[in-house]
Amino acid sequence: KKRVVSGVQPTGSIHLGNYFGAIKNWVALQNTYDTLFFIVDLHAITLPYEAQQLSKASRSTAAIYLACGVDPSKASVFVQSHVRAHVELMWLLSSATPIGWLNKMIQFKEKSRKAGDEEVGVALLTYPVLMASDILLYQSDFVPVGEDQKQHLELTRDLAERVNYLYGGRKWKKLGGRGGAIFKVPEPLIPPAGARIMSLTDGLSKMSKSAPSDQSRINLLDPKDLIANKIKRCKTDAFPGLEFDNPERPECNNLLSIYQLISGKTKEEVVQECQNMNWGTFKTLLTDALIDHLHPIQVRYDEIMSESGYLDEVLAEGARNASEIADATVNNVYQAMGFLGRR
Ligand code: TYM
Repeated sequence: KKRVVSGVQPTGSIHLGNYFGAIKNWVALQNTYDTLFFIVDLHAITLPYEAQQLSKASRSTAAIYLACGVDPSKASVFVQSHVRAHVELMWLLSSATPIGWLNKMIQFKEKSRKAGDEEVGVALLTYPVLMASDILLYQSDFVPVGEDQKQHLELTRDLAERVNYLYGGRKWKKLGGRGGAIFKVPEPLIPPAGARIMSLTDGLSKMSKSAPSDQSRINLLDPKDLIANKIKRCKTDAFPGLEFDNPERPECNNLLSIYQLISGKTKEEVVQECQNMNWGTFKTLLTDALIDHLHPIQVRYDEIMSESGYLDEVLAEGARNASEIADATVNNVYQAMGFLGRR
């Protein structure tokens, strides 16, 4: 079976972008592939964060995975820091990562510009190396992510090829550097729709956990009234009718896309249904569709959180499965890189 891995950071609230860019697609993949889905708590400390909130956010994020339909009898669900090999491999990989590759990362440039030099920890720069180790540890074939992770996936692929080239043995070098002697070279899986959900308050910036205004996103756990309020107040425009793909109407395109995704309709159906609507009518339609879709997820979330012990068992079992694969990879990398083995 081919293998699929992916993860979400346990910071703040999980929103529609995380859902359509990632989590919803995982649910479809778990039936066909060997899947591992993790909560990347080690990534969540790369910007200033609240230590008292971290463990709660990790459990909550795991419960959201399950509430969205990730099935622990099919997928391994675990917390990144519970599998020590992630950090271990990261150190080994960082010795093979040119610093110039990291300086070029768009997310690093954006996040560090916002934070200012004194606030930026070294971990923000080396963040993509940890992400590469999350993926390469499991010899993954596919990584389902949103558009914003594409560059990190490219770095992961380059790094896999570089390590394969540097430490993959003479036969491997003669082959010229493609394929996977030590690491499999993974492919991103970026969904055709939903890879880039935009903010509700600005159709030109993406919906994000770290945007200061909560009005800019719909979180999966938002109560009905809040969803209604956010849609009521979201940015629209003064053009007549509604349409996809008009570059002058980014908000309109985004809201129609969200409606398409949440209702499960085709683009053509949405065009037929909505092209002549005014904003008021459409907003009611969208609000109802969002509430209908998110309500069952919220009910399951509450059930999972109230069943004491269940979630922790799932995470413990997931970490055991993952550790077995991850430890084998790290041991192999130590050996390939020439370390003295322990007895
Ligand atoms: P994170 O936590 O920022 O986002 C989690 C997933 O949600 C996607 N996403 C979006 N998709 C569509 N529209 C949006 N507005 C939107 N915002 C976020 C992201 O692309 C991502 O798929 N570095 C990663 C987490 C990570 C990871 C990994 C992912 C760490 N290690 C290994 C895959 C494999 C991150 O910060 O995602």
